[in-house]
Amino acid sequence: MKIVKSLKMQDNAAKLIPGMCQLLSKRPDMFSQGVWPGYYSKAKGAYVWDLDGNKYLDMSISGIGAAVLGYADDEVDEAVKEAITNGVVSSLNCSEEVELAELLCELHPWADMVRYSRSGGEAMGIAVRIARAHTKRNRIAFCGYHGWQDWYLAANLGTGNELNEYLIEGLSPACVPVSLAGTNFPFRYNHIEDLEAIVSKYSDDLAAIVMEPVRNMDADPGFIESIREIADNTGAVLIMDEISAGFRINTGGAHLVKHTVNPDIAVFAKAMGNGYAISAIIGREKFMQSAQDSFISSTHWTERIGFVAALTTIKKHRRENVSAHLIRIGSIVMDGWRKLGEKYELEIHVGGMEPMGHFGITCEDFPSVKALYIQEMLDQGILASNLFYVNYAHTEEHAMQYIAAAEKAFKVISKGIKNNDFSSRLRGKPAQVGFKRIN
Ligand SMILES: Cc1ncc(COP(=O)(O)O)c(C=O)c1O
Repeated sequence: MKIVKSLKMQDNAAKLIPGMCQLLSKRPDMFSQGVWPGYYSKAKGAYVWDLDGNKYLDMSISGIGAAVLGYADDEVDEAVKEAITNGVVSSLNCSEEVELAELLCELHPWADMVRYSRSGGEAMGIAVRIARAHTKRNRIAFCGYHGWQDWYLAANLGTGNELNEYLIEGLSPACVPVSLAGTNFPFRYNHIEDLEAIVSKYSDDLAAIVMEPVRNMDADPGFIESIREIADNTGAVLIMDEISAGFRINTGGAHLVKHTVNPDIAVFAKAMGNGYAISAIIGREKFMQSAQDSFISSTHWTERIGFVAALTTIKKHRRENVSAHLIRIGSIVMDGWRKLGEKYELEIHVGGMEPMGHFGITCEDFPSVKALYIQEMLDQGILASNLFYVNYAHTEEHAMQYIAAAEKAFKVISKGIKNNDFSSRLRGKPAQVGFKRIN
């Protein structure tokens, strides 16, 4: 397998695009620079072709969780093509945005109204703006990752140690106005005392509590109920970020199956449009109407493709019980990792929900282990990382093929760890360390 054009494109990108691409999680150095192909010419179902024409089974990040049905899903693409034929923009609005609002409120009976944008971080910015408009307050308490915007990165301003403990290691908030310091405070998942400490200082000025419903661990009994109670007692708006968790274990927000209480606002993106750009902020009317007290408006939030893609994706997701499939395939892979870890005497830990599981191996140099895994899997025609976002195009056969290939990779890794030698085998660079989540 020759990777020439794909690597050349990376050299060009490094000269032309700061950070090489638009998403940290797709940067080649997050995998193994020099080995990871980085660019694709075609993607269909569970397969991806790089610029050199190499075909891979993609068992890695499924467009970082965006392509929940698989790449270039025929049903979604047909609907999109029809929308293109009929015009994706005009001086009038498209009715699909109303249909999609009806569908989202049907799936989430506690919600009454919907706004839209195109990406996840942008939608979180809108949700927080609505909460601030509704409460006429400033401060936010948050748990987990919520995107690139100032309201969020403000947590890193002047907080020294919290930077490393809570957000992306080494991330500088240099670009965020210092006047936002003290507006956003992190709390850890399942640590209600963290939130209580924030509330004890700022209950009168707390606009929102922002969190993911679930990520790498389930909520302890009573944790979410206590958060709901704190939101009710303080008047803060409870915002559930469903950008990654949504449309994995059920059709809609994971909070519907994981929690006994509802949020005031929930935010969706990623899987909802099977890769087409669309995000939604749904909520109870009394909160959502506050959007009108602020100015929240953008030309491309009216564009038709995202709504059409989301409507078609969600209908197919529900009709075909896609979540059951994602859970089944994810379980096979996660069990496979565990068994291989045992077999090759690796200190492996496997976590996450089945549709987006991951593994780690306790050792001195995990970035090299990760790079070696990626390299050994690529050599067997599989795009892989230490996390696996399942999509509906992944079959049981794919999962078995993946585990068989992973066995060979684990064997090499085990030898590397025992001999404390990766460099003699590694052709690319060790993986960079990415997000440090707190949930
Ligand atoms: C929970 C959560 N919130 C927000 C975001 C940001 O979404 P986007 O990358 O679409 O801006 C992500 C992306 O990974 C996410 O996982």
